[in-house]
Amino acid sequence: MEKSGVAIVGLGTVGQGVAKILLDHGDRTGRHAGRTLWLTHAVVRDVNKPLDVDLPDGILTDDLQKLIDDQSVQVVAQVIGGIEPARTIMLQLLESGKDVVTANKALLAEHGPEIFDRARQLGRSVAFEASVAGGIPIISNISQCLSGNQVQSLHAILNGTSNYIISKMDGEGADYAEALADAQALGLAEADPTMDVDGTDAAQKLAILAHLGFGARVHWSDIPRRGIDSIAKSDMEFAKHLGYRLKLIAYAELVESGIQLMVAPMMVKIGEPLAEVKANYNAVSVVGDAVGPVFFHGQGAGQMPTASAVVADMIDTAVGRTAITFKTLELWAQDNKRVDFASPGDLEGRFYFRFDVVDQPGVMGQITGRLGQHGISIASVYQHESRNENQQTVPIIIMTHHAPESAAQAAMKQILDMPTVADTAERFRILG
Ligand code: NDP
Ligand code: HSE
Repeated sequence: MEKSGVAIVGLGTVGQGVAKILLDHGDRTGRHAGRTLWLTHAVVRDVNKPLDVDLPDGILTDDLQKLIDDQSVQVVAQVIGGIEPARTIMLQLLESGKDVVTANKALLAEHGPEIFDRARQLGRSVAFEASVAGGIPIISNISQCLSGNQVQSLHAILNGTSNYIISKMDGEGADYAEALADAQALGLAEADPTMDVDGTDAAQKLAILAHLGFGARVHWSDIPRRGIDSIAKSDMEFAKHLGYRLKLIAYAELVESGIQLMVAPMMVKIGEPLAEVKANYNAVSVVGDAVGPVFFHGQGAGQMPTASAVVADMIDTAVGRTAITFKTLELWAQDNKRVDFASPGDLEGRFYFRFDVVDQPGVMGQITGRLGQHGISIASVYQHESRNENQQTVPIIIMTHHAPESAAQAAMKQILDMPTVADTAERFRILG
């Protein structure tokens, strides 16, 4: 069978997974690409760093130029993380006439327009299925399979590390630091896991999906975001008691005045598909105006699920499919319109409030009164009695009916001004 030379730049978690599939399963690339994708270069920074994959002699190199000069290699998986040198290497590969496959959403979310425009000028392509939701083929589904639709809403779990951590804390009672260390050991987390747990990674992925699904350019840093790093375990327990789970939700909704976008921990009703997404799994729930609701679920982080998406892109690129979609989709064209953000204050929703209050007569009435003044109707109230006589405050949990974000914010501010309410209060949206 014919062979096409391919290369990998970066042999970390994902790169080694890609190498394993290419080396161990050449029959698969042969079957789907009509030619074997033959690994000829694996470029690393340090050739002495131990690897989990056995590479044939002559493949491992720290000389990027050798790959750039090799005209027999058309497709390169560029799987190093972060912005630089990833950006420069990406541009060098394109300039040298190669098509690039990447999993690096941080790079695309930051420099997508520059990279995609340059690739177009050069007649090259960039494929990035692995950049969002790991092994779930969400990029091709949204940009191709659902292209007859206007996406109306997209609610998703897009960060495997955060979902792994909250699943361990919620399901097994693990503590935060222990669960994060496990996620790192499993190769789920970014080199800097702050980006996973503070909502940055999910916002970068949401920016990519918002571009594909809603046809407008959004910079990830303009997306309001909060991560799981500030969630108290007690709120997870209260949520469970009330029939909900806290999940880090990437939220996009088309409304009259524009698109609502945010990343935040939200309460999801137990039994709803997104509430049941566990461990390193991701899920994307999309509503299209023609198709209606569609749900995607699979491993969103980890070596082999991510490598699965990278190799599929390498095959699509080798056979020329990527070139066609890349050309027709006009992804991240510099002149794409910028999205109109709907005003966050208008965003209606249900809310979970926790107020830590002094246990004395009248406090509950004052709190519910203030919510009422802002037009917020209460759906349920839950209060524990003090666990012991030294406890200074007791938590009151209030779930509301639908109300505007601006009303929820204003009521909370007013309640926090009460001398009987501690400043440790919490507020989450309830999804749905
Ligand atoms: P790792 O940190 O495990 O691997 C990155 C590799 O790139 C490291 O081996 C690093 O080398 C290497 N590298 C850095 N700079 C260079 C360079 N100049 N030349 C050659 N190699 C270089 O990250 P992952 O494999 O986990 O992630 C790679 C990309 O894939 C990231 O963008 C990430 O966001 C994305 N991704 C990761 C997923 C996952 O589950 N892990 C899932 C989906 C996407 P060194 O070891 O010397 O630093
Ligand atoms: N660190 C990312 C996550 C990897 O945990 O989801 C997948 O993009």
